[in-house]
Amino acid sequence: MRMVKILGLLGTGVIGGGWAARALHFGIDVIAADVKPEMEEWIRGAVANAEPALARLTFAPLPPKGKLSFTTDLRVMAERADFIQENIPEQLPLKQRMLAEVSRYAAADVIIASSTSGLTPTELQRDMISPGRFCVAHPFNPVYLLPLVELVGGQKTVQGTLAAAAKFFTYIGMHPLHVRREVPGHLTDRLQEALWREILHLVNDGVATTGELDESIIYGPGLRWAAMGTNLIYHLAGGESGMRHMLAQFGPCLKWPWTKLEAPELSDTLIDRMVEGTQAQAAGRSIRELERLRDDYLVAIQQVLRQYNIGAGATLRSLEERLYLDAATAHAARANHSDTPQRLPLRLLDTAVRPEWVDYNRHMSDFRYGQVFGEAIDALFRRVGVDEAYRGTGRMYYTVENHIMHVGEAKVGESLYVTAQVLEVDDKRLHVFQRLHRGRDDRQIATAEQMYLHADTALAKATPADAEVRAKLESIRGEHARLPLPPEAGRSVGRTRNTQTGS
Ligand SMILES: NC(=O)c1ccc[n+]([C@@H]2O[C@H](COP(=O)([O-])OP(=O)(O)OC[C@H]3O[C@@H](n4cnc5c(N)ncnc54)[C@H](O)[C@@H]3O)[C@@H](O)[C@H]2O)c1
Repeated sequence: MRMVKILGLLGTGVIGGGWAARALHFGIDVIAADVKPEMEEWIRGAVANAEPALARLTFAPLPPKGKLSFTTDLRVMAERADFIQENIPEQLPLKQRMLAEVSRYAAADVIIASSTSGLTPTELQRDMISPGRFCVAHPFNPVYLLPLVELVGGQKTVQGTLAAAAKFFTYIGMHPLHVRREVPGHLTDRLQEALWREILHLVNDGVATTGELDESIIYGPGLRWAAMGTNLIYHLAGGESGMRHMLAQFGPCLKWPWTKLEAPELSDTLIDRMVEGTQAQAAGRSIRELERLRDDYLVAIQQVLRQYNIGAGATLRSLEERLYLDAATAHAARANHSDTPQRLPLRLLDTAVRPEWVDYNRHMSDFRYGQVFGEAIDALFRRVGVDEAYRGTGRMYYTVENHIMHVGEAKVGESLYVTAQVLEVDDKRLHVFQRLHRGRDDRQIATAEQMYLHADTALAKATPADAEVRAKLESIRGEHARLPLPPEAGRSVGRTRNTQTGS
């Protein structure tokens, strides 16, 4: 498969908009095609709405954002795209016709994937040219925040298509799940629909309201599901002998008529109950308002899971590792290119003040400054080779001194960036001076002076850093020796401020 620089989208509704936001965020250009010209405004709005949540997903350095263009001419899109994702309505004859048409204009090495929720790839690829490059790539709403994408090949899909598609989806921060055999509804929708059918029955039979049924999930199983699925959770529920005991104990109930499986008739009464129930749950909040709430907690959950390196948090962690690595490689390439002037001091981190970072003054809380400087120093470490693999050998830098000076303020949503100047390096110590700037006016709002000590956790003592790491740090220090010593460096707490802080 070719390298994906431009993602082509066919159909720019809810799902097309989600794909666009995700791809653009991770540096892929998007050319979106829809039959309705008014969808251009819609998709631009959808991308803008996704941005606040996406921007808070990770601190890792991102490539420059991709560019979005729109066309009503499917051919223009198909001829330019390196990878095409179809997101038109869930109607088999329409999808078959449009996929066949797209396949006539797209080069044979361009993968064409469908977002279909339940149609099978063999049916969809039937009339395509080069159907071997087709697969189902089923995402979940909101596509820009949920990492899961189910990949399913059809009878004509050639070996390599799914692996190549998986590579692209991983690049844009997703978790590709290879569905071994095509079945209607793939895996997830089959499970979700089973639950939904039971919900419809329970509402229809007057057993519970939509709100009560949602409570039955969100205060219990829903919390478990974010990190461990039903099977692993049931394994735990079976005590020491796990799943075997669980099946022996509860297996017989599976034969009892707890669940109904066949969906009930969608009568007017049932539809009214479902609609009125969910309207009561929304309690006057608009769809947009609820979407923002959903997006905020989806970001927060993934960040928590990241600490445990589990589920979607593990996906986020490995995405970040790659982003840091890419940034370090790009930096090294720039440094080796003699025509590119070095930027002094090093710009380590670009971020924005998140809503949860502010205190009662609506300014960033003091301990968040430490967090931002900590993230920035991590970026420096990665640049010189102190990454996950290095730390895996038990060696890392420990903070031994830290002095933060606050000289300005930042409000919610304001962009920030951190620069660093390496002051001293020896075999064990690293002395760094960082500045935190506000993006809108470049004003310096804080400084941090820090001393780090290289240590071996197994030996529990300070040890010399790896020679290559030290050499890289020395090279940066050599460059930074051309910079004046920061006037705030070496300043002790409580001295009168007599330094120029607006740089
Ligand atoms: N909505 C979800 O939660 C969800 C989740 C996963 C997958 N999907 C799947 O994604 C696909 C799209 O769903 P959606 O919810 O985004 O639908 P949608 O109705 O929001 O968007 C469909 C878009 O396709 C456009 N369109 C229709 N015919 C077209 C054509 N011939 N050429 C170009 N554009 C055309 C429409 O103008 C519309 O903008 C479906 O296959 C659906 O099953 C939906």
